[in-house]
Amino acid sequence: MLEYVIYMHTIKTAKTNSLAKIVIISSLTILIALATYFGYQYYSDRQATDQAKQAEISRTTAVKAAAAAKEAKKKEPVYITLPGASKIRAIVSDYTQPDDIWAVVSKTHAVPTDYIPSPLVIPDVSTRIDKSTDERSVRSDIAPALKQMFDQASNYGYQLMVGSGYRSANQQAIYFNSLAASVGEEAANQSIARPGQSEHQTGLAVDISTVSRNCYLDTCFADTSDGKWLAENSYKFGFILRYPEGKETTTGYRYEPWHFRYVGIDLATALHDSGLTLDEAWTYLETAAATLKANGAL
Ligand code: DAL
Ligand code: ZN
Repeated sequence: MLEYVIYMHTIKTAKTNSLAKIVIISSLTILIALATYFGYQYYSDRQATDQAKQAEISRTTAVKAAAAAKEAKKKEPVYITLPGASKIRAIVSDYTQPDDIWAVVSKTHAVPTDYIPSPLVIPDVSTRIDKSTDERSVRSDIAPALKQMFDQASNYGYQLMVGSGYRSANQQAIYFNSLAASVGEEAANQSIARPGQSEHQTGLAVDISTVSRNCYLDTCFADTSDGKWLAENSYKFGFILRYPEGKETTTGYRYEPWHFRYVGIDLATALHDSGLTLDEAWTYLETAAATLKANGAL
């Protein structure tokens, strides 16, 4: 009997142990499966987050690089080479505007008749005191260059004077109509610009004479030592002889050895060296302005 009980107990214990093993192994298998599943999920999520971060960094880097390239393009220097002259760097400006120092004002490039440059000042040089304050004035930013030129001229004994500086469109009309009344509009327009077509309206042009008014606004001014010095040296101060002899068909005006226009030393030097008028240089300036615009600089 006792043997039977021991036998039965042994069988029961063996069954219990097997069941426990199965439970333990199953549990471990489930645990491993769950750990693998969640571990993989975590890894996938991390990988997706890292990829998204990397993509964002790449996007930001690309945007920054594009912005930097755009800025660099804006600052890229643009050069103008007039035939026979050294290349000059184009100023970053819109030359089509009347307040631009490279603006062309002519029979084909008019400025609005209500355009008034600002500020205007009477330069610290001799001016015709019998003229109006307006006409004795020039645009303030060219006054120092004008003074330097007159001071340098005086070192050679030339006493220069501003005969006419800024002229409003109204004042221009008075001069034009006065001459047209005696010689007719066509002939008058060979010497005097119509209102809106005169450089004098920009405050960047000056009619220069000697204080003595020898050959005042006369072509014989070109033969005076003062006139010769101006023709040869004005570019060093940023001024050009705007209506040269032999270029009448290009400029639209007869030779005016007294009329000087400020364009700055670089362009004045290039024009002087090339022998081109401002009108002839316009296509070069226009191309430079278009490049500046394409580069985003304007
Ligand atoms: N004499 C020049 C052309 C002017 O009137 O502006
Ligand atoms: Zn003039």
